[in-house]
Amino acid sequence: MTLLMAENIKAYYFTRMGTIRAVDGVSLGVDKGMVLGVIGESGCGKSTFINTLMMNIRSPLRFIEGRVELDGLVISEMSREQLKKDIWGKLVALVPQSALNALMPTMKIRDFIVDAVRQHQDLPKEEIVGMARRRFEELNLPSDTLNLYPHELSGGMRQRAVIAIATLLNPKLLLADEVTSALDVSTQKQVLNLLADLRKRRIIDSVVYVSHDIAVVRQVADKMAVMYAGKVVEVAPTEDMIAKPLHPYTTALVNSVLTLEPEVRKRELSYLPGEPPSLINPPRGCRFHPRCSFAKEKCETEEPPLVEVSEKRLVSCHLF
Ligand SMILES: Nc1ncnc2c1ncn2[C@@H]1O[C@H](COP(=O)(O)OP(=O)(O)OP(=O)(O)O)[C@@H](O)[C@H]1O
Ligand SMILES: [Mg+2]
Repeated sequence: MTLLMAENIKAYYFTRMGTIRAVDGVSLGVDKGMVLGVIGESGCGKSTFINTLMMNIRSPLRFIEGRVELDGLVISEMSREQLKKDIWGKLVALVPQSALNALMPTMKIRDFIVDAVRQHQDLPKEEIVGMARRRFEELNLPSDTLNLYPHELSGGMRQRAVIAIATLLNPKLLLADEVTSALDVSTQKQVLNLLADLRKRRIIDSVVYVSHDIAVVRQVADKMAVMYAGKVVEVAPTEDMIAKPLHPYTTALVNSVLTLEPEVRKRELSYLPGEPPSLINPPRGCRFHPRCSFAKEKCETEEPPLVEVSEKRLVSCHLF
């Protein structure tokens, strides 16, 4: 069963420097009960993409075209007011990339929660605090955290609190943007365990987990999507992708971070020269061709479509 379906999404930033084509024709589905990892280098459009998945579009970003359907509702046709009232927090929630620093320093966690919930639902303060206390207890987070200020919490505790707050209204889908990136390995583990708990307790159904760190994504994701220069270039079940990446970019990405893994070590190490292209004026044809050691003439002129090459495996590359 598909919970979320994004079809041919284009979302561009309109800046004085030019139009940044951050998400440029992306289609992707998220099944019920699934954790989808989205990986790729810095600046390839990951954060922009998950914001478009909930239609959180703010200037200078504009939604150019595409369709987003969430749990049977076409949210790409809804107004921001309607999204705020009926969709955000309740059906889909986002933990944004900078969430760790987003809590107001002068507000106790409990007051922050009251404000956050009231954006979506008009409930008495006591009721919201009660809900939060029960939820924190359910998730084994100390409930006296609610009476503290953000600076009184460790980074890991703050991140777990942010996630518990975002999911207070039991959204079906959680969009998590680099939620473990600023944390050390043992604290990362606690955050990943919290995500697992949220799913086990059926508080949330599915997760889109964005990170540049494949090793972390591998621990949580059933399926991975690789983004390059505003496009999805490969989609595959996590372990299939790591065992046998297809797109030359995925191969380089996997090799560069997982060189200690025996199955990766067996392969030739590939070196990835250059850097990601400008999204104002991306290369013609395949956007990866200037960095690709397999590039043919066709790659310079013709954009490869994302096609199914075997069961559950999609890749956009003229080699396949
Ligand atoms: N508010 C903004 N205004 C203008 N351009 C932006 C804005 N936010 C992002 N961009 C640009 O859009 C492109 C995609 O950025 P995005 O943040 O989505 O990438 P990312 O993959 O999440 O990167 P990172 O791994 O660094 O978080 C980049 O070229 C970035 O500079
Ligand atoms: Mg980002």
